[in-house]
Amino acid sequence: MPVVYLNGRYVPEDQAGISPLDRGFLFGDAIYEVVRFDRGRPYRLAEHLARMREGLDAIRIRATPDFFPEAADRLLSENALRDKDAFVYAQVSRGAAPRYHAFPPEGTVPTAFAFARETDPPPPAEGGRAILLTDERWGRCDIKSVNLLPNVLSAQKAKDAGAMDAILVRDGFALEGTKANLFIVAPGGVVRTAPNGPRILPGVTRGAAIEAARRLGFTVEERAFRVEEMFAAQEVFFASTTLWTYPLVSVEGRTIGGGKPGPVVRMLRDALVAEFQGVPA
Ligand code: PDD
Repeated sequence: MPVVYLNGRYVPEDQAGISPLDRGFLFGDAIYEVVRFDRGRPYRLAEHLARMREGLDAIRIRATPDFFPEAADRLLSENALRDKDAFVYAQVSRGAAPRYHAFPPEGTVPTAFAFARETDPPPPAEGGRAILLTDERWGRCDIKSVNLLPNVLSAQKAKDAGAMDAILVRDGFALEGTKANLFIVAPGGVVRTAPNGPRILPGVTRGAAIEAARRLGFTVEERAFRVEEMFAAQEVFFASTTLWTYPLVSVEGRTIGGGKPGPVVRMLRDALVAEFQGVPA
């Protein structure tokens, strides 16, 4: 039975009870993070904590992610993940209180929860297929809230279609996946990804991939691209904590880059994994 963290305690998962009136449960009123660990060493932990702090501030939950480093360390030990490639999920909700939409009374204690799990095996090296869906999310996609219903429904539609994920499209622009940022390599080798702002999550891996691409000599443009630009691209790829960078070889049934993963996505992946494992790239 996995051991999880709940409000300062480490308990077997089946004994970690929260109130049914928890606002995370009732309203999706919570912020979360997912951090990857290589044999106990976190990848860009400071950036994840900064994003979590900003998310909590943005939705006015008075809590900090300060519990995270110690909780993660202990969860990796308790769950025998210290010598594995693992991730730690953490979430902080506004706490449990009688159900009214507006904030609960002063003094309501936020609920802090975390668990650790081994990372899933990587998806096939030959690349993935994605479908296109209208982005039905709210206007603050930069906040990593657990209110993920549009992401959930879109991910399921992709799964039903036999695809690995959906690319979410708003006003003709291909913005990101349901749980990953989106990049293209335009003809000429320019690396492009949507700019940070309210339409996408400011991914930690996105930032790392941009840095790595610039280090490798590529021109990187943070500007939104249209679906047609994506279809004309040499490469299309996702970037996230769980995938690193991962090639898409088909989108909405149309072949990308001759149906084979390109060199840029591979170079960036290698650079990110080298950084993660502490190997000079
Ligand atoms: N998802 N965009 C969305 C909508 C995401 O949910 C995520 C992460 C990303 C990539 O962010 P990062 O590189 O910081 O992981 C982009 C996490 C992994 C999840 O929901 O499980």
